Amino acid sequence: MRKNSENNKTGILLAAFGTSVPGADRVYSHIQSKAEVLFPQVDIYWAYTSRVIREKLAGQGRIFNSPVQALALMAEHGFSKVAMQSLLIIPGLEHHDLIMARSSLEGLPKGIEKIELAPPLLSGTLDLERFTRSMLENIPASRESDEAVIFMGHGSIHPANVFYAGLQYHFWIHDENIFVGAVEGIPGLEDILPLLKKKKIRKVHLMPLMVVAGDHAVKDMAGRQADSWVSVLKERGIDTRVIMKGLGSFDNIVDIWMDHLKEVMDIL
Ligand code: CO
Repeated sequence: MRKNSENNKTGILLAAFGTSVPGADRVYSHIQSKAEVLFPQVDIYWAYTSRVIREKLAGQGRIFNSPVQALALMAEHGFSKVAMQSLLIIPGLEHHDLIMARSSLEGLPKGIEKIELAPPLLSGTLDLERFTRSMLENIPASRESDEAVIFMGHGSIHPANVFYAGLQYHFWIHDENIFVGAVEGIPGLEDILPLLKKKKIRKVHLMPLMVVAGDHAVKDMAGRQADSWVSVLKERGIDTRVIMKGLGSFDNIVDIWMDHLKEVMDIL
């Protein structure tokens, strides 16, 4: 990797949604260690895009920067070039905030000359197919014909919500018993249930389609309340196993983000 000289200092900013679930941030440390191996000479900064999460953590005395704050800090620390990696899943609302942060902070007087923003995990057809093939290695290998895997994504009111349906298509090319749903988007669990019935599915492996197994995974996916995905599936007599692992804990998935990061480091 290029060495930082006095007036050409390059830094990396990892921008994640953020999490307040104790222990879930270990996933972020895992991602950082991968970036450190790839770019040992480069300083790595963090930003959390979620104000709600930042405020919650601040209440516990843990201060995290927003993307704008982190970029301003990096300018203050003398970085002239910054590669910002979007550690998000789809190019939705949070990713567009990163685009805005980039265009607001780039090229200010005595600030950062150049900021490149790397796309989130799923940013096009190639990502969808690579993600699909990678996850096929991460889910339980030996499954009976009446067993399914359901991924619970977040979902968005942003048009990029279509990435969930796009991902579903790519999974179905390989395996018709893999389903993609969103807790706040389409397709939802209610769209998947009739398909499970039609296919006479008796057992489901349920896992989050989120970077960390955070709040949504703990409550909406695996919670005890009647409307959690686990409860709804069990209600229908489907044996349900929860896999409490965020996408950021799988090496072959983090590699997709890291390849995006490499691409922007190359053009910086
Ligand atoms: Co949410």
